[in-house]
Amino acid sequence: MSNQAVMEAKNVSKSFGHVQALDNVNFSINKGDIVGFVGDNGAGKSTLLKILTGVHEPDSGELYWKGEKVEISSPEDAQKLGIGILHQSLPVIPKLNLAQNFFLTRELTNGPLNTLDKKKMEKICGKQMELLGISKDITQQNVETLSGGEEQTLILARTYFFGSELIILDEPTNNLSVKETRKVLETTRKIHEREGIPIVYVTHNIPRVFPIANRFVVLERGRKVADLEKTEDLDVRDVEDLIVSGEMGGNREFEEAK
Ligand SMILES: Nc1ncnc2c1ncn2[C@@H]1O[C@H](COP(=O)(O)OP(=O)(O)OP(=O)(O)O)[C@@H](O)[C@H]1O
Ligand SMILES: [Mg+2]
Repeated sequence: MSNQAVMEAKNVSKSFGHVQALDNVNFSINKGDIVGFVGDNGAGKSTLLKILTGVHEPDSGELYWKGEKVEISSPEDAQKLGIGILHQSLPVIPKLNLAQNFFLTRELTNGPLNTLDKKKMEKICGKQMELLGISKDITQQNVETLSGGEEQTLILARTYFFGSELIILDEPTNNLSVKETRKVLETTRKIHEREGIPIVYVTHNIPRVFPIANRFVVLERGRKVADLEKTEDLDVRDVEDLIVSGEMGGNREFEEAK
C-alpha cells in the first residue's frame, strides 16, 4: 500500500441481483490526487463511490482510511471520517435560501433560547462563496433560483467548510453551461490547492477533467481497466480510447486514415 493513500478500496465487489456492478476492484486515492474517474454508463462508478461513502455495503472487499481498515456503514460514518460527496442528484432544498442550505442540519444558534443566528450564518456562507469566486451577495436567495454553477459552488463550499479531507464529485457538471462548468472546475482546483485535499472527479467528459486531473482510473462493466498517471505522453484521446475499447490507441490509425 502506498504511504500516501488517503483512502483505499481493496478487492471490492458488489452485485445488484444479476448485475455485477463491481468485480474485485482496487482503487486508491492518494494525497494530492485529483483523480479523473471515468467509464461508460453503468460501469460502476457511482456504485463504488456509494460504497466509499456508506450508501451501499460491498458484498466483499475492504476499505482503508489513512492506512486503517474501516467499516463505513452509513453516510454519517463517511462524514465523520471527513469524506464529502456531491452526488449526481444534488442534496439541496430548492425552497430554502443559500445560507439555510449551507447550514442545513448544522444550524448556528445563540442566546438562551437557541434562536437561529441568521446573520452569522449568512455572513459565513457569503464569505465562503466569495472565497470560491462568487462575490455577489446571494445568500438570501432561494436555491431554486440559482444558476447551476452557483448551486455547485454552494455545495462545494459547504462540503469544504465542514471539514472534508476527501471530496468526491459525481457528474457535477451535468446540465451546466460551458462557462459554469469551467467555474466548477476552477473552484474544485482552488479547493484542492488550498490544502491539497484529494479529489475524485467523475465525468463522461474527458476534455473537461483532463486539465486538472493528475491520474485517471477507468472502469468498464464493473472492472478496473486502467489506472494511470497523466504523463506528458498521455492525451485526451488515449483516455477516451480506454473507455471505448479498454486499450489505448485502439483503432486510431484506422480512423485517422479514413
Ligand atoms: N440500487 C441499484 N439497484 C439495482 N441495480 C443498480 C443499483 N445501482 C446501480 N445498479 C446497476 O449497477 C450498474 C452500475 O451502475 P452505476 O450507477 O454504478 O454506474 P455508473 O458508472 O455510475 O454509470 P453512469 O455514468 O451512467 O452514472 C448498472 O448496471 C446499474 O443499473
Ligand atoms: Mg453514476
